[in-house]
Amino acid sequence: MVILFTGYFSFSQSLTRGPFLQMGYHDAMTVRWNTSEIGVGKIKFGESFSNKNKSVSVPLETLSHEVRVTNLKPRTKYYYGIYHNEILLQGDTSNYFFTSPLPGNSSEPVRMVAFGDCGTLQPAQVEVAKRVSEYFGGKPIDGMLLLGDNAYDYGFEREYQSNFFNIYQNFFLKNTVLWPSPGNHDYSDRTWPNDIGERPDYYKIFSLPTKGESGGIASGNAAYYSYDYANVHFVSLDSYGVEDSKKMADTLSRQVQWLKKDLTANKLPWTVVYFHHPPYTKGSHDSDTELDLVAIRENLVKVLDYYKVDVVLNGHSHNYERSFMLNKYYANETSFNVNTHASSNSTGKYDGSPSSCPYIKSGSGTVYIVAGASGWVRGTKPGYPHNAMVTSNSETTGAMILEVNDNRFVAKYLTANGSIFDQFTIFKDVNKKHQKTIECGEIVTFGSSWKGDIQSAIGKVENGLLKIDSLNKSVQFTISDKKNCLHDTIQVNVNPYKIPRASSNSPIMESETLLLDGKFDGKGLLSWKGPDNFMANGEKQRIEKVNLNKGGKYFLRANYKNCFSQDSIDVMILKILANEMPNSKLVRVSPNPSEGVFELEVNVAQEGYYDCFLVDFKGRVLNNYDTENLQMGLKSFVLDLSNRESGLYYFVLRNNQEIISTKLLKK
Ligand SMILES: [Fe+2]
Repeated sequence: MVILFTGYFSFSQSLTRGPFLQMGYHDAMTVRWNTSEIGVGKIKFGESFSNKNKSVSVPLETLSHEVRVTNLKPRTKYYYGIYHNEILLQGDTSNYFFTSPLPGNSSEPVRMVAFGDCGTLQPAQVEVAKRVSEYFGGKPIDGMLLLGDNAYDYGFEREYQSNFFNIYQNFFLKNTVLWPSPGNHDYSDRTWPNDIGERPDYYKIFSLPTKGESGGIASGNAAYYSYDYANVHFVSLDSYGVEDSKKMADTLSRQVQWLKKDLTANKLPWTVVYFHHPPYTKGSHDSDTELDLVAIRENLVKVLDYYKVDVVLNGHSHNYERSFMLNKYYANETSFNVNTHASSNSTGKYDGSPSSCPYIKSGSGTVYIVAGASGWVRGTKPGYPHNAMVTSNSETTGAMILEVNDNRFVAKYLTANGSIFDQFTIFKDVNKKHQKTIECGEIVTFGSSWKGDIQSAIGKVENGLLKIDSLNKSVQFTISDKKNCLHDTIQVNVNPYKIPRASSNSPIMESETLLLDGKFDGKGLLSWKGPDNFMANGEKQRIEKVNLNKGGKYFLRANYKNCFSQDSIDVMILKILANEMPNSKLVRVSPNPSEGVFELEVNVAQEGYYDCFLVDFKGRVLNNYDTENLQMGLKSFVLDLSNRESGLYYFVLRNNQEIISTKLLKK
């Protein structure tokens, strides 16, 4: 009996909807599914397909199952299996989901898709889904936004089954979190709750974060909610439903009061708001004549402006219409003036076509997108295309792709024929000024304030970075993107190249050893150049048995890449005095050593002018005495070194014939 019962049961019951994912967050996920028979649902999950080591079940026999899995890790892949009364219903390698990155994380690219007015059950609905799936290469999409009218004609449970779940289940729903907003058809174009308090099936079908379960401020009403995904804050509004007799366009409504609180609390860099009814359209609806649209434009748009919302996605019109970046534009189509109502007249396409640079946003400014063409396209109203639109398309079905990568937001209209009909890019926090101080010749690299291609008049681009080598002077330049739309200004200050210091044991007597000593605390090589074609590399040089030709100026040169500096010293080689002074000689110094005053007596053999100076032991000339025309015979000098430090000095007397010198030791 048991075997028969189990066999019968496992054969008969099956999944009729799902699994589909709701209310994803960095640490939690809701999984929903329906079964053909009532029973207890359970999911087993884990980071490894072969080891789903955790499970959650709801001890309730039901057809519609909802399990919230918590305590998950951010941006992590989890495999899951769906069980019914402990029997596996589904759980192959395609049953997995990713948790969200942590809110505020800008390093994770965000890739979402938005379907507007999709649930038509027309061939186009499937075509668009196929193209979206192909676009993402079969990889999971981070989120699937619904812009309302998700299941025609009345949003009934059975229509959601046939027009929504049956279509999208195998494309996306197992792996991609669903974030719906309701349209008028989801309300059956009627006012709810009905006379017995019922709400549309939409609210039974979806699990929506009313308590801030996915980030944002708790809305307390499943009709509208917000959530965070990485660095993007998403807000889904209800433009049709009524609460306390007020619709969304009434800014006193609870919905708008909550919206203001939510947007005030939001600190993420990007904000996307979506709801069904568009404030600007001349597609299959007319925002100048339809009062509900007029009310949204005149009232709600002011709130969106105030909170600097970046992108608004709408449906309702079964066309594609994409605006300039609008600000403070609340009037009808004919009053639109691109110079006053738009941040620029650029198309924002960023494709190299004329006037297509991205929108660079620092304050208010919102791009409005009507994309109610994921299931069909319809006609247009007089005035189409709307003047506030950069581009419009009433022929091709498609869906919006949203790709956010740090400070770059790209939205694309992907059509049912697989082409991108339109795209625009918004940047924030670009066109920066940087300053850096480096040592001469140091390699310096710069990134740009945007991720992507760069170019510069100087340096080399390697792996997306600008690398500059061998700078020897301060310079200012720009790094630009290749389309020349973005520009960072860079100032590099190059410290002066350090100067080496040369010294020697000069003066020395001829035939002694000359020691050249270089000191340098910078980068680079030292080289020497001096009299008698002397050249050498290195700090220290030793020249044995020097001759008089080696005297003179020695240059110590430092060189690193394009950086050069030098010092010099005077090297004095003193002729040996003893027996080699043909014309004159020093006969007496007294006292020596002395505490200050030295008396010197020289026998001048040849009348003439002599240079007469005092040098220290490094060869530095300390004092030039008056040049004298000396007469032949004994000549006396008195040197007073009382004010000088103790040490070794040289007295030198020189004419073009000879050098007479003597050491003086000051005590
Ligand atoms: Fe609609």
